[in-house]
Amino acid sequence: MPHIVFNKINKELNVPSSLDGTNFNFIAKSYNFTDSPRKTEYKISTTRDKKEFLLTLREKEEKLLLKPDKVTRISPVQLIKDSLNSYAKITEAEIAFSNTQNFSQKVEPTQEYLKDIDYFVNDFNTDKEIQIEIGFGSGRHLLHQAKTNPDVQFIGLEIHTPSIEQLLKQIKIQEIKNILVVNYDARLFMEFIKSNKVGRIFVHFPVPWDKKPHRRIYSNDFINEALRVLKITGTLELRTDSRKYFDYCVELLTNLPKGKITIDINKDLAVSSKYEDRWKRQGKHIYDVVLTCEENDAEINHEFDFSFKKEINFLEVIKRIPTKTLVEKDYFVHVEDIFTIENKENSGLIQITFGNFDRPLSKYILVEEGKASYFQDSPLPTSANIKAHQKIKEILE
Ligand SMILES: C[S@@+](CC[C@H](N)C(=O)[O-])C[C@H]1O[C@@H](n2cnc3c(N)ncnc32)[C@H](O)[C@@H]1O
Repeated sequence: MPHIVFNKINKELNVPSSLDGTNFNFIAKSYNFTDSPRKTEYKISTTRDKKEFLLTLREKEEKLLLKPDKVTRISPVQLIKDSLNSYAKITEAEIAFSNTQNFSQKVEPTQEYLKDIDYFVNDFNTDKEIQIEIGFGSGRHLLHQAKTNPDVQFIGLEIHTPSIEQLLKQIKIQEIKNILVVNYDARLFMEFIKSNKVGRIFVHFPVPWDKKPHRRIYSNDFINEALRVLKITGTLELRTDSRKYFDYCVELLTNLPKGKITIDINKDLAVSSKYEDRWKRQGKHIYDVVLTCEENDAEINHEFDFSFKKEINFLEVIKRIPTKTLVEKDYFVHVEDIFTIENKENSGLIQITFGNFDRPLSKYILVEEGKASYFQDSPLPTSANIKAHQKIKEILE
């Protein structure tokens, strides 16, 4: 991570000001809202190449450390490096250490088929049937499906980066055009897919999580979301070597109010995955449990207004802001830190972590003269984020 350590800063940073294409917009200073004392830290709002983010400035061993803020991460690294250098130059600082001059820039491989979750929220649209593979691992099964069904749009979900890179390589080598890959937790992904669009969802050899069943992909919520995105005759397909996972899923599925389930033991598929080969060599049984969708579902609305309507009295709010995590059934809100903007009335930054327990989101809320908004951009419209936002509104307004 690029950073600079200063012996001293010779000129105070005036805001707003700009140098060499970097704009410094405002400075916010840490505010002690918990009982534990802390060192002063500054957040410097910075814009470069039309991207807005924060730099952190704090004391470190009698020197000053300037680095990018973790929550407002941006890329490429060059942009951060240039901004840090602009700060050093504008403040005529005496540099003790810097890795911003020769920080080697990693060349990103072309990742045409790797998509950000934002892409699925805002831009993804297809007339083709969609099929999804959850936890594709080596990608053997997904590649086989994509090659044999060129008219289907496949989406591969994985959270293991080396597996993603391996699949992207194969997509390139085999010139496959109908797979989109996303690094996202499968339990939360389905929320962003339109109702009744998916033909098949493959869950092959999921991690059994026998000691932590709450981490399993299958749950009542997951099954209901799968049924919503599946079109009539669409299928949710589990293949597992774990008797415990099989029993657990059969119990969940047979508790559905209505449905069609088929079970197979040791069924051969056209392609066998690495895991499957291993289990077969060990003489284990392989179980298939397929749930078929028999009903259409209503569309869900992905548009949600994350704005704050009422004017906020920032200084009043931060005096009574909860320091403890607010935990509700399916979401939480935790205020991490507070900063007040110098020389601007009723203004500051609130750093919060919130949303789903498995995939919490960290963001800043910027309050400028009483008007609050999410810094950089709004949260993704997941059900947990929407509920958390309503709670945050209650706290602030
Ligand atoms: C046991 S491997 C099976 C891989 C592949 N399906 C096969 O049959 O060879 C399980 C895979 O699921 C992925 N995984 C685990 N939890 C996940 C989640 N919540 N969302 C997406 N992928 C997940 C893991 O990274 C791992 O690659």
